[in-house]
Amino acid sequence: MGKIIIIGSASIDLVVKTDILPNAGETVMGNTFFTNPGGKGANQAVAAARLSDQVYMIGAVGDDDNGKAIIDNLKENNVDTSYMDIIENEKSGTAHITLYDDDNRIIVVPAANNFVTAEKVLPKLEHFAKGDIIVLQHEIPEETIKAVVNYATNNDMKVILNPAPYRSLDQDIIDKVTWITPNETESELLFEGRVDEALETYPRKLIITQGAKGAVFYSETQQLIAGYEKEVVDTTGAGDTFNGALAVALNENKSLEEAVQFANLAGSFSVTGLGAQGAMPYSKDLE
Ligand code: RIB
Repeated sequence: MGKIIIIGSASIDLVVKTDILPNAGETVMGNTFFTNPGGKGANQAVAAARLSDQVYMIGAVGDDDNGKAIIDNLKENNVDTSYMDIIENEKSGTAHITLYDDDNRIIVVPAANNFVTAEKVLPKLEHFAKGDIIVLQHEIPEETIKAVVNYATNNDMKVILNPAPYRSLDQDIIDKVTWITPNETESELLFEGRVDEALETYPRKLIITQGAKGAVFYSETQQLIAGYEKEVVDTTGAGDTFNGALAVALNENKSLEEAVQFANLAGSFSVTGLGAQGAMPYSKDLE
């Protein structure tokens, strides 16, 4: 079994739960406010580390209280933080989340996450080996994604790219990654509406998550691996849980069918509690 290396954002989520969404220029009263650890990279690292050992996070925080809280939380969740950078005179990333009508709206301020550069990341990858799995998302600079994917290709490492949030992707990157896991909205944008064609073009590589419905990929025909219905409290972090769990299952050499089923199950648990990491499952929950 190899190691799992999550390269991505680590932030603090500032969450407001409301029954009313304000229009421009309007003030409304919300219900509750809370803060918790987030960032797609850190969420995926925690999701993986609750289900497996040997999970490493490469990322950056500021030299503020939030940065300390982010690192402490990763450590408490069994994530190896030896390769996390603390950026002097910089704030940690924050995500400003509104929970309304069973869904979330998120504005991310990357701050220290913008310092997860190729220059900082590539030397750290020298501590890892052929066969290890790297997991990437889109809350760190695009140049870093390109450099890491090229490094992984040249060193026989596997890559899961979770292209969230959406930004355009070079064909070269799609070709080089081992698996790519957009949700339905991201896949519509990435493949300009030709999603069925894209699934067939990238068999067993393009895995499109569809929330509670499950996830679909192509292998001879389209395979929908059904999801699990759970009562929804907060969907924030469900996609991250799917990706972290997928990395764990693929690292254990499960078949893609089994790995997606495992990731669907983990993702379904995550919506049952508040906060991105609040209800992420542990191995014992999934038995
Ligand atoms: O995917 C959910 C995450 O997206 C939140 O935790 C927030 O930090 C944003 O980055």
